[in-house]
Amino acid sequence: MADVAHPGERIPIASDHAGFELKERLRVSLAELGYEVQDIGTHGTASTDYADYAHPLAQEVSSGEAERGILLCGTGLGMSYVANRYPGVRAAVAWTPEIAALARKHNDANILVLPARFVSDEDALEILRAWLNTAFEGGRHTRRVEKIERIGAEGAGSEA
Ligand code: RB5
Repeated sequence: MADVAHPGERIPIASDHAGFELKERLRVSLAELGYEVQDIGTHGTASTDYADYAHPLAQEVSSGEAERGILLCGTGLGMSYVANRYPGVRAAVAWTPEIAALARKHNDANILVLPARFVSDEDALEILRAWLNTAFEGGRHTRRVEKIERIGAEGAGSEA
Protein backbone atom coordinates (compact mmCIF):
# COMPACT_ATOMS: atom_id res chain seq x y z
CA MET A 1 0.00 0.00 0.00
CA ALA A 2 1.30 3.43 -0.88
CA ASP A 3 1.70 5.68 2.13
CA VAL A 4 0.05 9.06 1.98
CA ALA A 5 2.28 11.75 3.44
CA HIS A 6 0.74 13.98 6.08
CA PRO A 7 3.62 16.30 6.86
CA GLY A 8 3.15 18.09 10.13
CA GLU A 9 0.08 16.15 11.25
CA ARG A 10 0.29 15.59 14.98
CA ILE A 11 -0.95 12.18 16.03
CA PRO A 12 -1.37 11.44 19.74
CA ILE A 13 -0.65 7.87 20.81
CA ALA A 14 -1.14 6.23 24.21
CA SER A 15 -1.06 2.81 25.78
CA ASP A 16 -1.14 1.03 29.09
CA HIS A 17 1.64 -1.38 30.13
CA ALA A 18 0.24 -4.14 27.89
CA GLY A 19 0.59 -1.95 24.83
CA PHE A 20 3.78 -0.17 25.79
CA GLU A 21 6.29 -2.13 23.73
CA LEU A 22 4.18 -2.03 20.59
CA LYS A 23 3.54 1.68 21.12
CA GLU A 24 7.29 2.28 21.20
CA ARG A 25 7.68 0.50 17.87
CA LEU A 26 4.78 2.30 16.24
CA ARG A 27 6.08 5.65 17.48
CA VAL A 28 9.20 5.06 15.41
CA SER A 29 7.17 3.92 12.39
CA LEU A 30 4.92 6.98 12.58
CA ALA A 31 7.91 9.31 12.74
CA GLU A 32 9.44 7.54 9.75
CA LEU A 33 6.18 8.06 7.86
CA GLY A 34 6.45 11.78 8.54
CA TYR A 35 4.00 12.26 11.39
CA GLU A 36 4.61 14.35 14.47
CA VAL A 37 3.99 11.88 17.28
CA GLN A 38 2.61 13.06 20.61
CA ASP A 39 3.34 10.36 23.18
CA ILE A 40 0.80 10.59 26.01
CA GLY A 41 2.27 7.55 27.82
CA THR A 42 2.63 5.17 29.45
CA HIS A 43 6.40 5.37 29.55
CA GLY A 44 7.36 1.94 30.86
CA THR A 45 6.18 -1.57 31.56
CA ALA A 46 4.95 -0.93 35.11
CA SER A 47 1.31 -1.84 35.61
CA THR A 48 -1.05 1.03 34.81
CA ASP A 49 -4.78 1.70 34.33
CA TYR A 50 -5.76 2.06 30.68
CA ALA A 51 -8.37 4.71 31.40
CA ASP A 52 -5.70 7.12 32.65
CA TYR A 53 -4.30 7.22 29.10
CA ALA A 54 -7.48 6.83 27.05
CA HIS A 55 -9.17 9.87 28.63
CA PRO A 56 -6.62 12.53 27.65
CA LEU A 57 -6.22 11.14 24.13
CA ALA A 58 -9.97 10.88 23.52
CA GLN A 59 -10.39 14.41 24.85
CA GLU A 60 -7.93 15.67 22.24
CA VAL A 61 -9.84 14.03 19.40
CA SER A 62 -13.28 14.95 20.76
CA SER A 63 -12.30 18.62 21.07
CA GLY A 64 -10.79 18.68 17.59
CA GLU A 65 -7.30 19.51 18.86
CA ALA A 66 -6.18 16.33 17.10
CA GLU A 67 -7.87 14.91 14.02
CA ARG A 68 -7.11 11.31 14.98
CA GLY A 69 -5.26 9.22 17.53
CA ILE A 70 -4.01 5.76 18.39
CA LEU A 71 -4.59 3.70 21.54
CA LEU A 72 -3.15 0.33 22.57
CA CYS A 73 -3.91 -2.06 25.41
CA GLY A 74 -3.92 -5.83 25.77
CA THR A 75 -7.23 -6.55 24.06
CA GLY A 76 -8.07 -3.07 22.79
CA LEU A 77 -11.37 -3.28 24.65
CA GLY A 78 -10.76 -1.17 27.74
CA MET A 79 -9.27 1.65 25.68
CA SER A 80 -12.19 1.57 23.25
CA TYR A 81 -14.79 1.62 26.04
CA VAL A 82 -13.29 4.80 27.47
CA ALA A 83 -12.67 6.57 24.16
CA ASN A 84 -16.14 5.90 22.77
CA ARG A 85 -17.74 7.76 25.69
CA TYR A 86 -16.52 11.05 24.18
CA PRO A 87 -18.73 12.99 21.74
CA GLY A 88 -17.54 12.68 18.17
CA VAL A 89 -15.08 9.93 18.94
CA ARG A 90 -15.30 6.73 16.90
CA ALA A 91 -12.68 4.36 18.29
CA ALA A 92 -12.32 1.12 16.36
CA VAL A 93 -10.55 -1.99 17.61
CA ALA A 94 -8.84 -3.50 14.56
CA TRP A 95 -6.93 -6.76 14.41
CA THR A 96 -6.51 -7.03 10.63
CA PRO A 97 -5.73 -4.43 7.94
CA GLU A 98 -9.10 -5.18 6.36
CA ILE A 99 -10.98 -4.27 9.52
CA ALA A 100 -8.90 -1.10 9.89
CA ALA A 101 -9.70 -0.08 6.30
CA LEU A 102 -13.42 -0.79 6.76
CA ALA A 103 -13.40 1.16 10.02
CA ARG A 104 -12.26 4.16 7.95
CA LYS A 105 -14.39 3.56 4.84
CA HIS A 106 -17.67 2.81 6.61
CA ASN A 107 -17.31 4.19 10.13
CA ASP A 108 -14.93 7.15 9.74
CA ALA A 109 -12.99 5.84 12.74
CA ASN A 110 -10.92 8.65 14.20
CA ILE A 111 -9.17 6.54 16.82
CA LEU A 112 -7.43 3.28 16.01
CA VAL A 113 -7.30 0.86 18.92
CA LEU A 114 -4.81 -2.00 18.69
CA PRO A 115 -5.08 -5.21 20.75
CA ALA A 116 -1.37 -5.39 21.47
CA ARG A 117 -1.40 -8.90 22.96
CA PHE A 118 -3.10 -10.35 19.89
CA VAL A 119 -1.25 -8.87 16.93
CA SER A 120 2.35 -9.27 15.81
CA ASP A 121 4.53 -6.21 15.31
CA GLU A 122 4.39 -6.74 11.55
CA ASP A 123 0.61 -7.07 11.51
CA ALA A 124 0.23 -4.01 13.76
CA LEU A 125 2.20 -1.90 11.30
CA GLU A 126 0.07 -3.09 8.38
CA ILE A 127 -3.10 -2.37 10.38
CA LEU A 128 -1.79 1.09 11.22
CA ARG A 129 -0.92 1.85 7.61
CA ALA A 130 -4.32 0.66 6.38
CA TRP A 131 -6.05 2.94 8.87
CA LEU A 132 -3.82 5.93 8.11
CA ASN A 133 -4.17 5.64 4.35
CA THR A 134 -7.85 4.83 3.90
CA ALA A 135 -10.43 7.57 3.42
CA PHE A 136 -14.03 7.66 4.63
CA GLU A 137 -16.35 6.70 1.76
CA GLY A 138 -19.15 9.06 2.73
CA GLY A 139 -22.43 8.50 0.87
CA ARG A 140 -24.86 6.30 2.81
CA HIS A 141 -22.23 5.92 5.53
CA THR A 142 -22.44 9.61 6.37
CA ARG A 143 -26.04 9.19 7.51
CA ARG A 144 -25.13 6.14 9.56
CA VAL A 145 -22.18 7.83 11.23
CA GLU A 146 -24.35 10.86 12.04
CA LYS A 147 -26.86 8.57 13.77
CA ILE A 148 -24.19 7.32 16.17
CA GLU A 149 -24.46 10.47 18.24
CA ARG A 150 -28.26 10.34 18.54
CA ILE A 151 -29.89 9.27 21.79
CA GLY A 152 -32.67 6.70 21.33
CA ALA A 153 -33.88 4.76 18.31
CA GLU A 154 -35.52 6.62 15.45
CA GLY A 155 -36.67 3.69 13.37
CA ALA A 156 -34.74 1.02 11.59
CA GLY A 157 -34.22 0.26 7.93
CA SER A 158 -31.77 -1.87 6.09
CA GLU A 159 -29.45 -1.01 3.26
CA ALA A 160 -26.17 -2.75 2.58
C1 RB5 B 1 -4.09 -5.27 31.25
O1 RB5 B 1 -3.76 -6.47 31.86
C2 RB5 B 1 -5.30 -5.44 30.36
O2 RB5 B 1 -6.44 -5.72 31.12
C3 RB5 B 1 -5.55 -4.21 29.52
O3 RB5 B 1 -4.41 -3.96 28.76
C4 RB5 B 1 -6.68 -4.28 28.51
O4 RB5 B 1 -6.62 -5.45 27.77
C5 RB5 B 1 -8.02 -4.01 29.06
O5 RB5 B 1 -9.00 -3.91 28.32
